[in-house]
Amino acid sequence: MALNVVIMAAGKGTRMKSARPKVLHRLAGTSLLQHVLDAAAGLGAARTVVVTGHGAEAVEASVAGQGPAGSLVCVRQMPQLGTGHAVQQAVPALDPALPATLVLNGDVPLIRPDTLRALLAASAGTKLALLTVTLADATGYGRIVRDAATGLVRAIVEHKDASAAERGIREVYTGIMAAPTALLSRWVLALANDNAQREYYLTDVVAMAVAEGVPVVTAAAGGETEVLGVNSPLQLADLERRLQRQRAEALMEAGVRLADPARIDVRGTLACGPDVEIDVGCVFEGEVTLGEGVRIGANCVLRDTRVDDGAVIHPFSHLEGARVGPGALVGPFARLRPGAELGPEVHVGNFVEVKNSTLARGAKANHLAYLGDATVGERVNYGAGSITANYDGANKHRTVIGADAHVGSNCVLVAPLTIGAGATIGGGSTVAKDAPAGQLTVARAKAVTVPGWKRPQKVQKAPKAG
Ligand code: UD1
Ligand code: MG
Repeated sequence: MALNVVIMAAGKGTRMKSARPKVLHRLAGTSLLQHVLDAAAGLGAARTVVVTGHGAEAVEASVAGQGPAGSLVCVRQMPQLGTGHAVQQAVPALDPALPATLVLNGDVPLIRPDTLRALLAASAGTKLALLTVTLADATGYGRIVRDAATGLVRAIVEHKDASAAERGIREVYTGIMAAPTALLSRWVLALANDNAQREYYLTDVVAMAVAEGVPVVTAAAGGETEVLGVNSPLQLADLERRLQRQRAEALMEAGVRLADPARIDVRGTLACGPDVEIDVGCVFEGEVTLGEGVRIGANCVLRDTRVDDGAVIHPFSHLEGARVGPGALVGPFARLRPGAELGPEVHVGNFVEVKNSTLARGAKANHLAYLGDATVGERVNYGAGSITANYDGANKHRTVIGADAHVGSNCVLVAPLTIGAGATIGGGSTVAKDAPAGQLTVARAKAVTVPGWKRPQKVQKAPKAG
């Protein structure tokens, strides 16, 4: 679309009481500013201007390289003299050939693309369009002042500048507007700061439009949630719950059974097949895919992971960059690290860690074990307490375990190492050379029995005098 977008993101966010710039605080794992950029991305703006100020370097780094080359630019606002002043800084970076400009707030993260489309349609390239919402308590907001006779918008009056009568108005400006680029550019450069806060108010362009006979129209937000701003940790947590509730409802509408929609956190995308069940306290990060009939137990964390049909992840498991095959069983208390690939029907039990390893169909590592940089064949049984010693202090090495091998408990497999198919490794062995297929390899001291040995006797204490 022939559109400029301006995102105001220079404010300090004093009430966050944080060293981090406000717009870089995270909602569902994504920065506030990124939520706004994502909402605007669907509008196809040819030019997006982010106004930075507080923490400018970090804010600019967070958006660097987004969109087609040159489509996103940052301009600095130093010092911050108000929203009108912020847009003034953006004017030289606007593309005058793009007839419409949309102004967004970097700290209003849940704005919906459909709402922005409706606002742009209302502006229609010729009018000043304001996104408004009617609130039960309008304290702090700019009020939409309408002409009593015609109902047309006359001005926006900031709360601090409003009369008692104006403070009674509950229709407020959300901080988001769309306007013809040429008019907005001219208006903001003409703003003055003769008001209660000695700031350049963007909202004063409304009175300018009225004075010039440019129509001012409004579009109503789809609800309160999408126009709520973040100014404090409390508000951030409130928005997080609202967003998570929306995501939980969308999952349930798609048939996912959540034990409790108030106790799930999706910080990325979660794609589910039919008949998925998710118990309480689970966190999904990045891109997670769950196949048909997958069950996720309580308090699991899954990040960038795919779980195939019928697999079960038992409680308190942590999976990152993993692939779990159909019908596999994982946990409780399992840890799958990046590159863990479990084939069909694999079992990985409690206190088992798997990293950069493939386990073929039916392989089992049921208790207290570590598999790193390993290739594990079909039906291998990997005993409790066994580990791959994959790191020699400088380099990582691979362990290959052939199909049907049986690794006893408490073995140290010193990589690089190959254990042949069907081999048995006796419990307690430290194996540093390849073990042949089909044979028993054992490396441990023989048990000895010491004849005549007596267990020490407990020394009897003398009774206390007196
Ligand atoms: C603004 C509106 C008010 C509206 C409210 C909705 C003005 C004058 N008032 O008030 O009518 O009801 O939003 O939330 O616009 N920012 C800058 N540089 C600055 C000042 C602000 O980039 O110099 C950014 C802030 O980081 C923030 C946004 O602009 O993202 C809004 O600024 P804020 O100070 O919150 O404006 P309000 O007083 O809430
Ligand atoms: Mg505000």
